[in-house]
Amino acid sequence: MALTSLDSMPRRVLMFGGKGGVGKTTVSSATALHFALAGRRTLILSSDLTPSLSDIFETEIGATETPIPGVPNLWGLEIDPDEVMRRWKVKFGPQIYQAAQVFVDMPYDEVVDYVAMAPGIQEEFLLDFILEQVRNGPYDLVVWDTAPAGDTLRLLELPHKFLSHLRLAPKVYLNMRDKLGLNQVPFLELIDSWQKLSHEVASFFRDPANVEFILVTIPEALGVYQARRLVGEFAQYGLRIKHLIVNHVIQEADSEFLRRREAMQRPYLELLVNEYQDRMEITCVPLLPDEIKGTERLRRLEGLLF
Ligand SMILES: Nc1ncnc2c1ncn2[C@@H]1O[C@H](COP(=O)(O)OP(=O)(O)OP(=O)(O)O)[C@@H](O)[C@H]1O
Ligand SMILES: [Mg+2]
Repeated sequence: MALTSLDSMPRRVLMFGGKGGVGKTTVSSATALHFALAGRRTLILSSDLTPSLSDIFETEIGATETPIPGVPNLWGLEIDPDEVMRRWKVKFGPQIYQAAQVFVDMPYDEVVDYVAMAPGIQEEFLLDFILEQVRNGPYDLVVWDTAPAGDTLRLLELPHKFLSHLRLAPKVYLNMRDKLGLNQVPFLELIDSWQKLSHEVASFFRDPANVEFILVTIPEALGVYQARRLVGEFAQYGLRIKHLIVNHVIQEADSEFLRRREAMQRPYLELLVNEYQDRMEITCVPLLPDEIKGTERLRRLEGLLF
């Protein structure tokens, strides 16, 4: 059981990605449960627009960190873009307003809302938020159930976009300052501190000592293609996926229906194994007869993963 190797690693963020419906939420929830039971203070975080942590843990989770009943050391959080923005404004709003006051006379909300529209700010802040949870926050580990494939990578790409956007800002500001004859430079200082923050976030998420990517897929054509694409895209950014979870594997085919599905899966399983066994640890998870809901059933899945 390949995920056991995660036990001994001091990884602070585990990111689960993969195409829609393959079992990211289920597997990441069972993983979070595993580490919480092992005594690590764990946050399971969903950044999906339609999160399902509340359903799987059978408790209302929502946009604030919520303890999972009956599981010590485990908290859940379903964070959406509005909540990310709200937290961003609380953290940076006053600073931005103070800096901007030097050259614009606009109401607080307008200034802060305007700056908040800069490309990549939301995603940047989500990464910053996660980093803060494990660096200064109360958690030893964040298990991140990401939105379906593609978006994951966009997130990691964004610190770069954000940085190049910031690089222009001092020029714009200096230009304005000269035109308006201003001397104070709080805005430059602010931009400077953001650049530092953005570098910090980017290097944290690129360091394999901090972050592990776990790809979830299913043994079907679409699952195989999607996995291939994601592995390739990650490689372009210099990121390596070291864990592959193949979910929904039929193990005991005791009916004609299941025998046919098993035969359908077999070539795709072989493809995945041949392609990735040298560079990834592969964990197969059987298709279970029950709905995986509630901590009891998640524990059973946890037992299969670790
Ligand atoms: N091994 C399994 N055996 C049986 N059912 C499973 C298994 N894995 C996942 N499921 C079920 O499949 C459905 C989809 O799983 P899940 O919600 O975890 O996928 P997801 O990748 O998070 O989906 P989305 O992309 O929509 O967020 C759920 O109803 C879940 O209970
Ligand atoms: Mg999900």
